[in-house]
Amino acid sequence: MDKQNAAAAEKSREERVKPQDFRVPANEYSNIKKIIGVVSGKGGVGKSLVTALLALQMSRKGKQVGILDADITGPSIPKMFGLHKKAVTCENGILPEFTRDRIRVISINLLLEEEDAPVVWRGPLLSGVVKQFWTDVLWENLDYLFVDMPPGTGDVPLTVFQTLPLDGIVVVASPQDLVQLIVRKAYRMAKTMNIPILGIVENMGYLKCPDCGRQINIFGESRLDEVAVDLELPVLGKLPVDPELSRLCDEGRLEDLTAPYLVTAAAMLDTTEQRKPEQGGY
Ligand SMILES: Nc1ncnc2c1ncn2[C@@H]1O[C@H](COP(=O)(O)OP(=O)(O)OP(=O)(O)O)[C@@H](O)[C@H]1O
Ligand SMILES: [Mg+2]
Repeated sequence: MDKQNAAAAEKSREERVKPQDFRVPANEYSNIKKIIGVVSGKGGVGKSLVTALLALQMSRKGKQVGILDADITGPSIPKMFGLHKKAVTCENGILPEFTRDRIRVISINLLLEEEDAPVVWRGPLLSGVVKQFWTDVLWENLDYLFVDMPPGTGDVPLTVFQTLPLDGIVVVASPQDLVQLIVRKAYRMAKTMNIPILGIVENMGYLKCPDCGRQINIFGESRLDEVAVDLELPVLGKLPVDPELSRLCDEGRLEDLTAPYLVTAAAMLDTTEQRKPEQGGY
């Protein structure tokens, strides 16, 4: 091999082995300080609810907040906030919809003609839409953008991990889904992608007796604290099964919530504030 070819081969090898950066810049009208993804190992554990609650509590702290609904085939954020209007597109991009308390939201449901029409698209198309939610939406000034991820480790979560400059992820787990395994999986995936895990939220581990207020651990003693200590991750909160929560979600009135769910979590994630995990709470 002559010198020139050897140099070209070496360069190509370097290109192949070095970690590639697929990140794309956001819209020029977007200025987003922190991006936090909400993930889980499997579906139905409460990712969307946790995303919505974190956004709500952060916005109640006076922060400018947005939610990017990256779940294209199962979008649920607009419904929780009672958003049914169509997002408007202008010459500079797509305008997010505002919830009653001025949380900015973008979701495929705000763009489809019929919100109950199923999205039957293949992976690359789904990933393309998520990318557009980042590049084409006029988020303007945000302190926090929360990304509601679809479950699992398919095309779309991978796209989010690779193209959005995530500052970290929050892992949602329910006690019955072998919390240790799920959290460890998320931990290893995030490590591979070089993204910090900001903490864990346990959902639906207990309920409060409506008569005596006693806490009933539905699945026995939670093992989350053990796992969290082992992996040196903070527990951001533990949410009970609360019929009020599901009722407010179903009625699109999550912003009427009075219980302080994930208030402590929002304070712990808010890097502009001193962390106060020892205060406990939800
Ligand atoms: N702590 C809770 N108390 C009562 N209902 C809850 C609670 N957490 C979630 N739910 C209800 O369970 C359902 C599933 O929650 P959610 O949509 O947040 O899960 P998900 O992990 O985002 O699901 P998917 O994987 O399908 O996106 C919702 O109807 C929600 O209202
Ligand atoms: Mg969801």
